[in-house]
Amino acid sequence: MPNPERMRINEKVNSIRMPENVKIGLMIDDHRNNCVSNKCEFDYSALAFGQSPFPVPPSLSHSLSRQTERGKYSSTIGIEPLRSAISEFHNHYFGLNTDMDDVIIGNGTSDIFFLIFSLIEGGAIIPSPSWVSYVPQLQLLGKDYHIYHTRAENGYKVDAEGLDDMLTDLERRQHILILNSPNNPTGAVYTRKELEAIADVCSKHGALILSDEIYSITTFDRKSFTSMYDILPEATFATNGLSKCFSAGGYRLGGSLLPTSFHDDVMLAFKKIATTTYTNVSTPTQYAAAEVIRPNEEMEEYFNITREVHRIMGTNFSNSLNDIDGVKATTPEGGFYTFADLNSHRDSLVRNGVKESNDLMGDMLAHPHHIALISGESCLLEPDDFGARLAYVDYDGGAAYRDFIEDPPQGSRSEEEFFRRCAPRMVDGVERISRYLQEKGGMNNGG
Ligand SMILES: Cc1ncc(COP(=O)(O)O)c(C=O)c1O
Repeated sequence: MPNPERMRINEKVNSIRMPENVKIGLMIDDHRNNCVSNKCEFDYSALAFGQSPFPVPPSLSHSLSRQTERGKYSSTIGIEPLRSAISEFHNHYFGLNTDMDDVIIGNGTSDIFFLIFSLIEGGAIIPSPSWVSYVPQLQLLGKDYHIYHTRAENGYKVDAEGLDDMLTDLERRQHILILNSPNNPTGAVYTRKELEAIADVCSKHGALILSDEIYSITTFDRKSFTSMYDILPEATFATNGLSKCFSAGGYRLGGSLLPTSFHDDVMLAFKKIATTTYTNVSTPTQYAAAEVIRPNEEMEEYFNITREVHRIMGTNFSNSLNDIDGVKATTPEGGFYTFADLNSHRDSLVRNGVKESNDLMGDMLAHPHHIALISGESCLLEPDDFGARLAYVDYDGGAAYRDFIEDPPQGSRSEEEFFRRCAPRMVDGVERISRYLQEKGGMNNGG
């Protein structure tokens, strides 16, 4: 008998946790918004949430304002001008040879992942450390997943041999490998050779690949980005969207290239789920996006400037973290994040009540430290692995963009000055982390 005083929630929903980055990110946003007028000094270092700091490109917002009359439902798989623009984008930037029939669109790439996980049979392989949301989605769908623990010595990348062993053990069922390059949280970019080796292993075992390429355009050395779709189009879903490189996470628009071998089956399955759940992605947003995604000079300039600013911020932020005793932060090659290994401080942290990697997040956030970052389970780390993801986007992106245009920094010294001038909160954040670790007792065995 249902209890009239209590609504019972689906057990699968009860079992998942709210993604920590979103929880903490919104909390800090609210706090700052509420306190600005009081000149509150109780500020936070917001290193948890990976949101583009830059303003929406004017061509995108202007285009959206011209589309408000488009009130009709539209095609479930996306309007043709948008699908053809996404195909051109991939062909232009990544040297692919796609057409609009290879593309479907969704409400952001997170939504597309959920659809992909829903429509394919079998489980997933997730490299750790990882972005926070793949696992809760799989849990919600009741799917099994296997964590592939990468190693710092390998640059936290999946290596073909280890993957081969794992897939040999799992071979009886279909699996999808989730690959994210540039990587959240490590900032690593896979080389073509590494992707080819991984693709060979996946082909050998009949595994699919979800290539999450949302940070592709931020790759600091732009030519070094390779799309997995260029290597294994037969078995790859390659996803991208407006959220990171177009600084429009709130527009909720993403797309995926479909695996060529299973194209018709996947398309039909996608249509079935999308039509019966949300019908179509907002029609005005699709028309607006089509105008800016199709390669054009204005966006090219925007990408070039924002990429450079990301590079300068990421490199200097990671360098300053590495100046702290016992902190080993990755040097990002793209994206918005660096991953810091804090295991040299584990003994003192544990002695001071930070028993597990998960506890680090809460302890650092608490007064008086006020450092928001993501650690532990949310990054798929083992409880005794004291690693943390830090997003280097806590600065006024509009001001940094203008500063860069007026006086582009030349050389590493002037880039460091740019970092200090344009990202004072991140400079302060590094100092707070250093103080926090010192107060906890410093490195293990004093060395
Ligand atoms: C690695 C990665 N993939 C996907 C997403 C989600 O992007 P979207 O806004 O398109 O859902 C994010 C957002 O932080 C991300 O970091």
